[in-house]
Amino acid sequence: MSGTLAGKVALVSGSGRGIGHAVAMKLAREGARLVVNDLDRDVAEQAASDIVAAGGQAVACWGNVTAPDFAERFIKAAVDQYQGLDIIVNNAGYTWDNVIQKMTDEQWYAMLDCHLTAPFRILRAAQPVIRALVKAETEAGRRVHRKVVNISSIAGLGGNAGQANYAAAKAGITGLTKTMSKEWGRLAVNVNTVAFGLIRTRLTEATSDANAQIDIDGREIKVGINPGLMQAMEQQIPLGRAGTPEEAAGSVYILCLPESDYISGQTLVCGGGFSLS
Ligand SMILES: NC(=O)c1ccc[n+]([C@@H]2O[C@H](COP(=O)([O-])OP(=O)(O)OC[C@H]3O[C@@H](n4cnc5c(N)ncnc54)[C@H](O)[C@@H]3O)[C@@H](O)[C@H]2O)c1
Repeated sequence: MSGTLAGKVALVSGSGRGIGHAVAMKLAREGARLVVNDLDRDVAEQAASDIVAAGGQAVACWGNVTAPDFAERFIKAAVDQYQGLDIIVNNAGYTWDNVIQKMTDEQWYAMLDCHLTAPFRILRAAQPVIRALVKAETEAGRRVHRKVVNISSIAGLGGNAGQANYAAAKAGITGLTKTMSKEWGRLAVNVNTVAFGLIRTRLTEATSDANAQIDIDGREIKVGINPGLMQAMEQQIPLGRAGTPEEAAGSVYILCLPESDYISGQTLVCGGGFSLS
């Protein structure tokens, strides 16, 4: 496929649904070859099929990003399939809210494991591969920029009542981003964060069903926002509405373009003008 990212190899975690799916589709339409991921095999394989049906290339690496062996498997999938690695989008995630006095250790660690430890492990597993690719490119007289986009939230920038676990993990990812931008500058890797405001996905679906749940590896987690609250939240957004997954994907895409080769260690807020900070 031709396009602004022709031939690039991109990994997107949690790309079976929502924002991750829209990111994977956008990168594939721009010519990138994808490794997609989601918890369940059928969901991950469907995402890969969606990309192939749109004329792109994709392979599925399914499984929980928090599994101890996941990072190595994810990176290996890219190397085995495409012999390269250019873009990593750490997107997989969910919320598991409670006020602090009711928040269990399990809830706390689930968010840190998924939103912070998993991206850390993925970047750690990518380092030897990137270093070897850069060495070969340098010897050939070439300099190639690579891109990491870590997904955060405005909750990680400004805090959000009921989300001590999620906000702490999402704040942590900005620290990881800034540090990796310093460690990997010499490898020409641009490392940035996108912090989303309110984006319409399964996580934030307007529903009056107070029992709406998703299954995260056997854990039943409440999702969705009461329609009245959703409307009130949208009224506080300067652009007057929640964003779409495609709009969210656009902000990630911008940071994967060659035009962003001199931007690193930054957090781009994609929230329709809304900010909690
Ligand atoms: N929707 C929003 O308003 C919003 C706002 C701020 C940040 N975010 C962040 O954006 C990212 C994507 O969220 P979304 O709204 O698209 O949600 P979503 O539920 O629509 O999609 C997330 C996908 O990630 C997968 N996933 C979740 N945990 C996983 C795990 N441990 N391993 C592998 N896959 C996993 C899910 O199965 C799902 O397919 C998350 O990191 C979320 O915290 C979303």
